[in-house]
Amino acid sequence: MKKLNTSMNKVAALFCFTVITFINVNALNTKPFPKDFKFGVATAAYQIEGGWNEDGKGENIWDHLVHTNPTAVANNDTGDTACDSYHKYKEDVAMLKYLGVSHYRFSLSWTRLLPNGFANKVNQRGVQYYKNLIKELKDNGIQPLVTLYHWEMPQTLQELGGFLNNNFIDWFGDYAELCFKLFGDDVTNWLTFNEPGPICQHGYGLGDLAPLYKSPGIGEYICGKNLVLAHARAWHIYDDLFRSKQKGSVGIVIDSRWFEPETNKTEDIQAAEVMRHFVWGTYINPLINGDHSSIVKEKIAKRSKQQGFKRSRLPEFTEEEQKYLKGTLDIIGLNHYSTYLISAQKHPDPDAMGFYVDCEAVARQSDDWEKGGTDWMRVVPWGIRKLLKWIKHTFNNPKIMITENGFCDNKDKLLDDDRRINYIKTYLSNIRDAMDKDGVNVVGYTLWSLMDNFEWTLGYTQKFGIYHVDFNSPNRTRTKKKSADYYKKVIATRCLTDM
Ligand code: NOJ
Repeated sequence: MKKLNTSMNKVAALFCFTVITFINVNALNTKPFPKDFKFGVATAAYQIEGGWNEDGKGENIWDHLVHTNPTAVANNDTGDTACDSYHKYKEDVAMLKYLGVSHYRFSLSWTRLLPNGFANKVNQRGVQYYKNLIKELKDNGIQPLVTLYHWEMPQTLQELGGFLNNNFIDWFGDYAELCFKLFGDDVTNWLTFNEPGPICQHGYGLGDLAPLYKSPGIGEYICGKNLVLAHARAWHIYDDLFRSKQKGSVGIVIDSRWFEPETNKTEDIQAAEVMRHFVWGTYINPLINGDHSSIVKEKIAKRSKQQGFKRSRLPEFTEEEQKYLKGTLDIIGLNHYSTYLISAQKHPDPDAMGFYVDCEAVARQSDDWEKGGTDWMRVVPWGIRKLLKWIKHTFNNPKIMITENGFCDNKDKLLDDDRRINYIKTYLSNIRDAMDKDGVNVVGYTLWSLMDNFEWTLGYTQKFGIYHVDFNSPNRTRTKKKSADYYKKVIATRCLTDM
């Protein structure tokens, strides 16, 4: 009897948990967003510009990948022309103006400015392109929000090891300094790196994003160390030489899903927390508190020891580096799209290595969640509220800008994109709840993306835009989708409506 009761209790607990997890839908929050809340849209250079070798631009790792290994990308697509924003930036700004955004997040192509990656030779035509774009934005009352590195390592620097070479910290610092000098009188909001996770875990660990370097559990951690130190270098340069005059801020962009425990078992609850710390503790904790989160250090050190390594595969920061890193984040940029369910699980092979192995957890998504165009795109709006709340508590209420959030489908020219509207609406409603009811300090929202564009190894198969782009036409004609008008209305009224 006792046994039966216990298992019935377990069933009841599981049922409750499941209900809480899956029917976590709140009413639409229609309270206006604060007056100073910023609404914008985002893109990135390689994904939209094209003009890959025009006017003196040098080769970067994506140019190199698509030309030397075309099958690495769906349909052998390339960003050679992309949305042709190199020539059509005025049209892009007209679209932004129509939407009424306060800011536009875009990135600079390092090799358009410095063709060989080093700061000794500046390409004036590249400089002019960005000056023109920034002027066009400012003339239309739109603030630039500029990412310095959105995945476009100069190929010359990659050949020297890229993020695995600790000289990268100097190379990036020189590039950042040049950008602050050239554009900092007009650009006050800077973001150093877009998404350290994909850069390191996928670029240097799993090896499924450029530069396709496979070194799970070793290369990816070296990459992470050099990346955060390079961020700190740029922050210090800004702080020492530019801040007093330009009065801007320097942040980083982290991508994070929400990690929900798969069950209410202690080990799953702990595994979800470990997973959160693997994401936030490797990149954000060093910049706020000067070091990796202790749980991350402990787990990787333990596993490394068991595997016979003399020291942890996660390279430590020296005391001097810790001081240099601590407090070098003016704002957190958050890219968030979806949620995962986490359960505790040790890898069966004791010698296996890698970010996802070292955290001893597995992630999956529920089939009950609405699916978008890619495998990982599931619509789970409550996840963003939980994540924002977690960031607030873990990092002492930092300033957060949502730098990306958006929905992809894979149907070409789907102009009546009601599912995208629903995604934007329900995610924004949860963000509003997080601000309103949980006191999270969110200062703005940046929708990904202004228009359909090159989705990395998925080529043009995934459509994230609120404008359609005709990639079959040499003119790359842009056409407004229904979501563009929905977002325009949200921006104009500062309220979510049921349109
Ligand atoms: C992450 C990246 O920053 C961006 O480049 C990408 O297109 C979107 N999110 C969608 O996957």
